[in-house]
Amino acid sequence: MSETTACTYVIFGATGNLSLTKLMPAFYHLETEGRLAPGMKIIAIGRREWDDAQWLETVEESVSKAARGGLEGGAFARFSERMRYFKMDTGESQSYEALNDFIKTNGFSNNIAFYLSMSPSDFGVVIKNLGDTRLLDESNGWKRVVLEKPFGYDMESAKALQHQLNRYLQEEQTYRIDHYLGKGMVQNLMVFRFANILMEPLWNRNYIDHIQITHAEDRAVGTRAGYYDHSGAMRDMIQSHLLQLLALIAMEPPASMDAEALRDEKVKLLKSIRPINRKNASAQSFRAQYAEGEINGKTVKAYLDEPGVAPDSVTETYAALKLYIDNWRWEGVPFYLQTGKNMPKTQTLISICFKHPPQQFFKATQVKKIEPNWIVFSIQPEEHIKVEMTAKQPGLEINTRQISLDASLCHSGGGFHNDAYEELLLDVIKGDRSLFLRYDEVKAAWNVVDPVIQTWASNTGFIETYAAGTWGPKDSDKLFDQPGQGWRYHIEPVKKGTCE
Ligand code: BG6
Repeated sequence: MSETTACTYVIFGATGNLSLTKLMPAFYHLETEGRLAPGMKIIAIGRREWDDAQWLETVEESVSKAARGGLEGGAFARFSERMRYFKMDTGESQSYEALNDFIKTNGFSNNIAFYLSMSPSDFGVVIKNLGDTRLLDESNGWKRVVLEKPFGYDMESAKALQHQLNRYLQEEQTYRIDHYLGKGMVQNLMVFRFANILMEPLWNRNYIDHIQITHAEDRAVGTRAGYYDHSGAMRDMIQSHLLQLLALIAMEPPASMDAEALRDEKVKLLKSIRPINRKNASAQSFRAQYAEGEINGKTVKAYLDEPGVAPDSVTETYAALKLYIDNWRWEGVPFYLQTGKNMPKTQTLISICFKHPPQQFFKATQVKKIEPNWIVFSIQPEEHIKVEMTAKQPGLEINTRQISLDASLCHSGGGFHNDAYEELLLDVIKGDRSLFLRYDEVKAAWNVVDPVIQTWASNTGFIETYAAGTWGPKDSDKLFDQPGQGWRYHIEPVKKGTCE
């Protein structure tokens, strides 16, 4: 049953990739689940001279590719009824008057969510025009603006953008999206930490050796080179998604689960990250770019040969970072973050490596080295939690082996898992901002990565490479504090000696 009110979703950039591959399928799935109120309408804004029929044809094509269990005719018919296409040039102020009239004359709800699925460089002008046309005026219904990442290009540009927004928008109306927060397993991190008493006593510097966060993709930059070549992996993934994962895994328990309490704790954590200065940037970070290679038996071209990439580009497609959190809980515990494109497979893991017990009783036996305990959260593709421990092997001698407690969460109960955007689109309608970023959170995240980005920007002559289809350059292991430690890429147990 729908628990949301009637509203109008206005999607800027509706004909773009994100809208067609993520937003439309997410709205369709919400339709099939009966989560949309009868008066909920979607206005798709594009520059093309399309009519409603052309728009619906395009939506049907992309939704049928993504629909769980295939496209269901009845649900798609209901979904189509909600949609209208509206052609406009977002740079022209008069077209906002026309949009306003379109909303009024069609009797659409005055509770309006504007979703800006477009280049961040256009955010300012769209917000200004919406403001000038009084489309952000809340006297006759709520008005909310959803901003896709990236919020700014660095600290300075984020501040400039916020300065522009401040003239027209209240923070309460602003929904800065980080779609990782809508992923089921990311929310499970909080449940696992705060709904169980078992872990909390161990969740600190006394027991945890280090924490790794790895996001790998077996995809290239695709058609997004124009954006990506000016962004790179540090801005594209680490500043946003991976720092959010870090914040959730390391923050203190919030006073409550309401939006402000939760975001207060994330900000506090991000602000406790020890600043990286230009001097230690190279010891705490690593970047590289993919060269030609092979993935799943197919030859993959080098980044420099991708259409839209500058021939002398030193943009990183792999980035890694070592961080320390200067607070009571985490003093001295390294956090290692890495992300890369064109790696052997797509997956996101958070791996927590525990310290060894204070004494190794079994040294004199046949047990040479006992593996540490690990807790591994697989965010995707499988939703999985794994706890690894050491136990005795059956037999007369004391030989040990690793055993694990496994919980595969993705399909337990037999259901499908929802896409992150479904949850987030619904939260906007409900006015729940807990899974959206507050401005101070975005600033704190830029503060962490800015010095590294600046150091890299001043070094335009050279970048290491890794063959596409490999786990990135071996040299990134140099970031690890302890000799013998290295990245954990698999949910399966590590080989002896990779963490001690
Ligand atoms: C986006 C990045 O925010 O997240 C992409 O811009 C990246 O480059 C994507 O591929 C990863 O998201 P997901 O949900 O596929 O892991």
